[in-house]
Amino acid sequence: MYLLKCYFCEREYEINDPVYKCACGGFLDIITDEKINFDFVNDKIKGLWRYEKFIPLFSNKRVTFGECFTPLVEDVIYGKNVYLKLDYLFPSGSYKDRGSAVLISKAKELGVSKIVEDSSGNAGASIAMYCAKANIEADIYVPASTSKGKLAQVRAFGANLKLVEGDRQKTSEAVLKAAENIYYASHVYNPFFFEGTKTFIFEIYEQLGYRLPDNIVMPVGNGTLLIGAYIACKQMIESGYIDKFPKFVCVQSENCAPLSEMLNARPLIYSETIAEGIAIKNPLRALQMLKIIKETNAALVTVSDNDIKNALLSVAGMGYYIEPTSASVIAALKNIDLVGDTVVELTGSGLKANDKISYLIENS
Ligand SMILES: Cc1ncc(COP(=O)(O)O)c(C=O)c1O
Ligand SMILES: [Zn+2]
Repeated sequence: MYLLKCYFCEREYEINDPVYKCACGGFLDIITDEKINFDFVNDKIKGLWRYEKFIPLFSNKRVTFGECFTPLVEDVIYGKNVYLKLDYLFPSGSYKDRGSAVLISKAKELGVSKIVEDSSGNAGASIAMYCAKANIEADIYVPASTSKGKLAQVRAFGANLKLVEGDRQKTSEAVLKAAENIYYASHVYNPFFFEGTKTFIFEIYEQLGYRLPDNIVMPVGNGTLLIGAYIACKQMIESGYIDKFPKFVCVQSENCAPLSEMLNARPLIYSETIAEGIAIKNPLRALQMLKIIKETNAALVTVSDNDIKNALLSVAGMGYYIEPTSASVIAALKNIDLVGDTVVELTGSGLKANDKISYLIENS
């Protein structure tokens, strides 16, 4: 059985209720007592849809581009042996496709014909791509300063691009009005997105020969990876596949680190960062993320723009072309010592940010 449940007042809603938030204003999570069973993985499919049985979709309205396992590559970064999970190789150029594939399949299942979404760029591009495939009209709200590559993608996929002046927060505010009447395919509010992002954990588990690593390093803004990782690992613990959480290493920009500031009861001091994807001043799910960080004994790391730039150029020199947000996790590796083996999640393609990367090269 699956239910939607408010994180704050615990009110419950049917799983197919098209609400995006609780009557109290709180965000919703998917609650289930279903166990997962890797015997039910669909071996005919080589990507995230092989875990369809672990996802609360109830029709065959799957919207897919034939997503595959993303590579898990062993390499040495700053003298440390790591596995790099190349999620930037997804069809739209970011890991967000995991979440969009499931969320837009759900929208299709619900008979939705139009959605709205707000994003720092990648989620919007990804949602727009899956909507193009599903024949669903999409209004995508993004900050006017977003990388041109991401804006071009949203437009090319035929979505209506709504540019909002000001920071990412202003964009979130603008979309809420539109979401009063149109299905809100939010990668932050809508919990079906996390049902997709959680699949990177299952893939790593299979790719490492049915085990998880000691550490998983990931960028954290609104927390779609962190919360997805938590959901997947919790299901795996409850179903007897693992006995403890891996150490989640959550990376934020020094210029925008709301989780560390909240943990230390300090006010947020914000300045612009090249890691645009994680420049989220007031993450909606901040309390949920802090709870996860405490419960799983996760590490919180902040990195400077300068370290991100050097990290980006350094891994690009090794053949990994990733965008600045994604390079934050490489920068984090420089300054932390991790015990055991480590998977580093590379989330976004450098092809989205050619202009910014050219600038970095010219000024390095
Ligand atoms: C490339 C990339 N990595 C990581 C993130 C962080 O994801 P989240 O905000 O869900 O934590 C984003 C978000 O847009 C992103 O674009
Ligand atoms: Zn509520």
